[in-house]
Amino acid sequence: MSDHYDQAGVDRLYAAIWGPNIHYGVYQTGDETIDDAAAAATVVMAETLAPNAESKLLEVGCGYGTTARYLAERYGADVLATNVSKRQLERCRQGLGMALPRGRLRFEAADYHALPYPDGVFDAWWCQEAMVHAEDKAQVIAEAFRVLRPGGKAVVSDHMFWHERMTPDEFAMVQARYAGTQVASPADYRRMLEDAGFRVLAHHDWQAHATTHRRKVLAKLEALWGELAAEVDAPTLATTRDAWRAWAKLADEQKLSFDFFLAQKPV
Ligand SMILES: C[S@@+](CC[C@H](N)C(=O)[O-])C[C@H]1O[C@@H](n2cnc3c(N)ncnc32)[C@H](O)[C@@H]1O
Repeated sequence: MSDHYDQAGVDRLYAAIWGPNIHYGVYQTGDETIDDAAAAATVVMAETLAPNAESKLLEVGCGYGTTARYLAERYGADVLATNVSKRQLERCRQGLGMALPRGRLRFEAADYHALPYPDGVFDAWWCQEAMVHAEDKAQVIAEAFRVLRPGGKAVVSDHMFWHERMTPDEFAMVQARYAGTQVASPADYRRMLEDAGFRVLAHHDWQAHATTHRRKVLAKLEALWGELAAEVDAPTLATTRDAWRAWAKLADEQKLSFDFFLAQKPV
């Protein structure tokens, strides 16, 4: 799935529907826009981590660079944001040309399964709805553990599937959409973090927000269908709509969430 976001149709679709963040939102009323709720999710995660101007942060799977920019601007942190998508990295760097954040901010190509950085150099490792694409999630978490200093913190939120609650047909459908990756539930994420040696400090169950968010992105896709059909190839549009209809139903049935974990490498 590592070239998924490099496809022109997928890039256009995500930019139009999800906006500057390709992650779920946290909703107070449900009337917020997708963009505002997604930004609110980042704020909750950042406040839980509470970095400062001395913090050296690594973001993996950084999308359009919006969270990295926020962490650098709001906290003055030194942020190294990484991604495998060349198309998204281009967008990240174009954004850099517009305004220089207070902290130091760099974008580099890196696969989160094999980070090109030495052991123990980061205070925090941040992965927001990116590990869903991982072929080997335990390996991604092992890399996080390796590059963090003792006492360093891992911040993870993800598009997670409660496969334990699914029918065999539902599970097969999710596996087909995420072919080559591991389908994992919030319980799996906690276990993988603990198995790697992390101590889980916080766990937010964001199931209710996932339900609201899935309904909103599906409604926006259907509302913009005519406009998008002129720019996005028909197979991409059709398979995305099918998947998002399925995700909305799974979220309604509490079989899909996007929980958030904060974990710490022991000192
Ligand atoms: C759903 S987007 C989330 C983007 C961003 N974190 C955000 O919240 O807006 C998933 C991201 O994971 C990245 N990704 C997929 N496979 C990856 C890999 N092997 N290593 C690093 N990033 C990867 C994609 O390129 C994309 O930027």
